[in-house]
Amino acid sequence: MTISLRTERLLLRPWHDDDLAAFAAMSADPAVMEFLWPFPDLEACQAWVAWARRHWDQHGFGQWVVEIPGEASFIGVIGLAVVDYDAHFTPAVEIAWRLARAYWGHGYATEAAHVALDYGFGELGLAEIVAVTVPANLRSRRVMERLGMSRDPADDYDHPALPESPLQRHVLYRLRNPRIRR
Ligand SMILES: CC(C)(COP(=O)(O)OP(=O)(O)OC[C@H]1O[C@@H](n2cnc3c(N)ncnc32)[C@H](O)[C@@H]1OP(=O)(O)O)[C@@H](O)C(=O)NCCC(=O)NCCS
Repeated sequence: MTISLRTERLLLRPWHDDDLAAFAAMSADPAVMEFLWPFPDLEACQAWVAWARRHWDQHGFGQWVVEIPGEASFIGVIGLAVVDYDAHFTPAVEIAWRLARAYWGHGYATEAAHVALDYGFGELGLAEIVAVTVPANLRSRRVMERLGMSRDPADDYDHPALPESPLQRHVLYRLRNPRIRR
């Protein structure tokens, strides 16, 4: 079962079958994909959406579709995912986000990420949530920093699924569950 979350301006909701077209349109924008592994065609988008929906069934959490109620039924995707490769910080759950270009610069990613983190730390009781990106993705890193996540350069790593790629080098940001005392 997929739950929905509300913020002041946003609804984080389950996937609908007709979200694929909006997801594909967002994924066709080079600005959105600048630091992401490209989706060459609709089939690749379909596979990603199928994976995102399957993740909910397998783990009971995942990435939500973000909408602005009464204004836009799909502005992007934000949520939690089990890191699906081996690295020095795995097993781990990451928070990830991608918004259509028209919705950057409004604080929407940070607003949605706050409730997603709260869900991960509260309902799911996760001890830590990480976020990863390439060093040059400064917009995404600024979201991580606004959320209070911290980076140790010693945690930087080469993404094992992207060998020989300009996207291979990654930075890692971590956030501990503030509700769990160590
Ligand atoms: C990464 C991404 C989600 C960041 O989006 P964003 O809109 O810059 O981030 P936020 O939602 O936190 O918005 C913050 C910006 O909105 C501005 N803003 C405007 N109104 C605001 C409001 N009411 N509240 C908060 N911030 C507001 C802030 O000043 C800030 O701008 P700045 O970074 O230029 O200073 C977006 O760039 C994206 O989807 N990129 C492509 C996909 C991608 O790379 N994903 C990450 C993979 S790791």
